[in-house]
This record gives sequence, structure tokens and C-alpha cells, in this order.
Amino acid sequence: MARVFITGSSDGLGRMAGELLLEQGHSVVLHARNEQRAMETRKVVPGAEQVVIGDLSSITQTRGVAEQVNSVGAFDAVIHNAGVGYRSASRIATEDGLSLEFAVNTLAPYILTALIARPKRLIYLSSGLHQNGDASLNDLTWEQRPWRGQQAYSDTKLHDVLLAFAIARRWPDVFSNAVEPGWVATKMGGPGAPDDLDAGRQTQVWLAISEDPAAKVTGEYFFHQRRRDPHPATRDPQVQDKLIAVCEKFSGIKLP
Ligand SMILES: NC(=O)c1ccc[n+]([C@@H]2O[C@H](COP(=O)([O-])OP(=O)(O)OC[C@H]3O[C@@H](n4cnc5c(N)ncnc54)[C@H](OP(=O)(O)O)[C@@H]3O)[C@@H](O)[C@H]2O)c1
Repeated sequence: MARVFITGSSDGLGRMAGELLLEQGHSVVLHARNEQRAMETRKVVPGAEQVVIGDLSSITQTRGVAEQVNSVGAFDAVIHNAGVGYRSASRIATEDGLSLEFAVNTLAPYILTALIARPKRLIYLSSGLHQNGDASLNDLTWEQRPWRGQQAYSDTKLHDVLLAFAIARRWPDVFSNAVEPGWVATKMGGPGAPDDLDAGRQTQVWLAISEDPAAKVTGEYFFHQRRRDPHPATRDPQVQDKLIAVCEKFSGIKLP
């Protein structure tokens, strides 16, 4: 039996991954943005060991999530799943002055990776849209250019792959991979999304717990349990290191 922590698991693919892990007999700690969402999550997923609380758009609250996770003990796997979508019509500034997409999709998984006691496996939810992401890593928080919501989202999904691969390079004792779940009908994907919703949760669960040698790899990008080629820049150690440096600067937290 494995113990898995999943961010953004009050809904969508995160909750579905948690439910699948529970069905398979694993122990799961979920995460919700606030007390109200946590209460709702406990009701719909009563088998979860615990629901930790914190808004990932806030650096302070994200630190709090890491503290809560560490206080409940060690994890075999962490699935960095929480995300905000690609439809924001304008730049939303967080309490730290960052753009919402960068804060939730990029900086929060960085902070949690840095502060949560190192698990055996790390999984980062990316998207096929990362292929359109801007690998220059300039103006990450959208202060110098007109807002484009889908581009902002695509950029952060590129960052998630960079983060997975940067960790794979730095922490050889951890399996660190990225997943593209397909375009599926969650709150984010919308009701018309064409891909298989159930398949959208399988790969991250497989990477988190499977003893299949194909799942026990590191620095790979997966779609439906098969390796797929990510944006070539994600393989570039200099780009990976630039993202880590920027995240260190914005968060004030050094990657161990
Ligand atoms: N759906 C797709 O087609 C698709 C495609 C490619 C990649 N992905 C990726 O898959 C992951 C999961 O997406 P999904 O489709 O399951 O989205 P979703 O249904 O919108 O669920 C997102 C989850 O993240 C949580 N969350 C969002 N902002 C948060 C914040 N500031 N603090 C704490 N929690 C927050 C949400 O909480 P609330 O429930 O309280 O809002 C929810 O539990 C994301 O990383 C996304 O980029 C999805």
C-alpha cells in the first residue's frame, strides 16, 4: 500500500485520481483551497486520510500546505495536479503581485517540491498546450506584455515539464515525471472536451504507485501511459536551471 498526496483534489482529475487510488487500497491525502472546499471534499471522498488546506495562489498559504503535509508524515508519491485554466480574460494579480496562472501552476508546485519531505515519486500535470509555451522564460508574470490567457496557461504547462525534468536531474533517487492527461471534461476542460475522462486520471496514478518497470523511470513525459516527446526546450538543462532560479527568486525558497 502506498501513501499519496494530491494537490487540487477537491474536484476534477485530482479528486478522480484520489478515488482511484482509494479503490486500489492506497492511502490518500487530498488538498482543498479553503475550509469550505475541504468540508465538501471530505463528504464526497470519505475514505481520504486527511484533507489539507491552502490557497496555492498565495506563497504564504502554499508554505502552510507544505507544513501540513510534512506534519502527517512521509509520502511515497506526490501528484502536483492543481491548476487554473486558460480562459482568464485578463491578468489576475495574486496577493504577491504575480499572475494567477504562474502562481498556481508554476510557483506553487515549485514551493511544495522544495518544502515537502522528498517522496519516492513526483508527478507534475502538464498539458499538450505546453508545446506552445514560451521557452524564453521572459516576463513570466505578464507585467510587460498584453495579456493572452491561453498563452499564459501554455507557458505554465511548459514550466511544469521543466520542473519535472529539473528535479529528475537534481534528485536521482526520485522518479520525477510529467503527464499530459488529454483534453477532458472537468471544470477546466469544459463539457465539450473530446478525450477519455477516465483515461485522464490513469497515468498519474500508475506513475505514483505501479511496480511496472515502465512506470519506474524519471525525466519522462507521458500521455496515456506511453512516453511522448515534450517540447525540446524542456530537455535543456540551462532552461531548467533558469526556471528554478526564477522560482527561487519569486518565492524566496531555495530548492534543496
Ligand atoms: N481538463 C483538461 O482538459 C486538462 C488538460 C490538460 C491538462 N490538465 C491539467 O490537469 C490538472 C487538473 O485539471 P482539472 O481539469 O482537473 O481542473 P479542475 O477540474 O478545474 O480542478 C482543478 C483543481 O485545482 C484546484 N485549484 C485551483 N486553483 C487552486 C488554488 N488557487 N488553490 C488550491 N487549489 C486550487 C481546484 O479547486 P476548486 O475545486 O476549489 O476550484 C480543483 O480541485 C491541471 O493541472 C490542468 O492544467 C487538464
